[in-house]
Amino acid sequence: MIRTRVEQTNEKEHSAPVFLTSSFTFDSSEEMRAAFADENDDNIYSRFSNPTVQEFTDRMCVLEGMESGFATASGMSAVFASLLSFLKKGDHFISCNAIFGSTHTVITKILPKYGIECTYVPAADPSTWDAAVQENTKMIYLETPTNPGLEIIDLQAAGDFAKKHKLIYCVDNCFATPIGQLPALYGADLIVHSATKWLDGQGRVLGGIVLGNKQLIHDVYLFCRSTGPSLSPFNAWILSRSLETLEVRMERHASNAFYLAEKLENHPAIRWLKYPFLKSHPQYEIAKKQMKNGGGLFCFDLKGGLESGRKFLDNLKMLSRTANLGDTRSIASHPASTTHAKLTEEERLSVNITPGLIRISCGLEHRDDILNDILQAL
Ligand SMILES: Cc1ncc(COP(=O)(O)O)c(C=O)c1O
Repeated sequence: MIRTRVEQTNEKEHSAPVFLTSSFTFDSSEEMRAAFADENDDNIYSRFSNPTVQEFTDRMCVLEGMESGFATASGMSAVFASLLSFLKKGDHFISCNAIFGSTHTVITKILPKYGIECTYVPAADPSTWDAAVQENTKMIYLETPTNPGLEIIDLQAAGDFAKKHKLIYCVDNCFATPIGQLPALYGADLIVHSATKWLDGQGRVLGGIVLGNKQLIHDVYLFCRSTGPSLSPFNAWILSRSLETLEVRMERHASNAFYLAEKLENHPAIRWLKYPFLKSHPQYEIAKKQMKNGGGLFCFDLKGGLESGRKFLDNLKMLSRTANLGDTRSIASHPASTTHAKLTEEERLSVNITPGLIRISCGLEHRDDILNDILQAL
């Protein structure tokens, strides 16, 4: 695995330079031969490795407490690589039922074409998972908190389950970020991120990463090196700089979210509101045990259903209506009429996406400015 680091140049720049190059040169045919034969760590081609991408990867390894990683062009290419690097025709895996929409599409529409089957299990009830294990089960794939319903999965229970059945334990840690929780502490073998969200934090670039031990990530590397979902060095440079402010940003996102969730919980237009660190959250005790803060997202169900959800979005003056989350600016979304509109009503309800569900991604604005916009839109 390539491990070239970004060294300071003779210019003595403070911010690391960005290596926007497709390929790397060699002083001799012998040096080139040795690089291709994996006899040294030299960079060959940016689809395989790049120093700027490696800088981002190394920083993520430190944050997540993982040995190695491979950075990808988007969160979805990281999700896909984490599955396809380890699963083959005839294999089966288990996933929590509340899962990001495109991951659900990969699981239900794409993987079956390659003979890979999945069983969904209830996210909040690990006691039911044993029944889903088959002889050919290879992996358990989880997201916590889940998108958009913010269910919390017990990472320790999932780790014990993975160990008992000798499964690869993979966690999408996009919502909590390594500032909010560390799946590695609970035995996660693989951690997946959409770096597009909180890691970038300013809605600028797409990116993703898969982290794990050296052996597992070598398999991810071999898969990605040939199939080509590598992260652009420019995006890696942006993301590396973003990581320098991640902790400060996440503390503010989470304190804003907690403040707003408490203020809005009993609003007459709202049926229920979910935030992992509110006592009313059904998995509050688990959230408190495994998360350092409740994260930057909360969601609520509007009493008026689908129409009131659309009206709420239309009434907003400051919050953005956009298909993203994890930005400095607050964002509101209405999953039933947008990201999850293609699901049937029954499918949506099975993962707690009610017609009036609104998801708020809290930005870094003054908390009362966000609150006042939400209140006037309700
Ligand atoms: C939990 C989760 N995983 C993965 C993804 C996919 O990330 P990307 O949009 O960067 O491909 C998303 C995107 O919203 C997400 O919310």
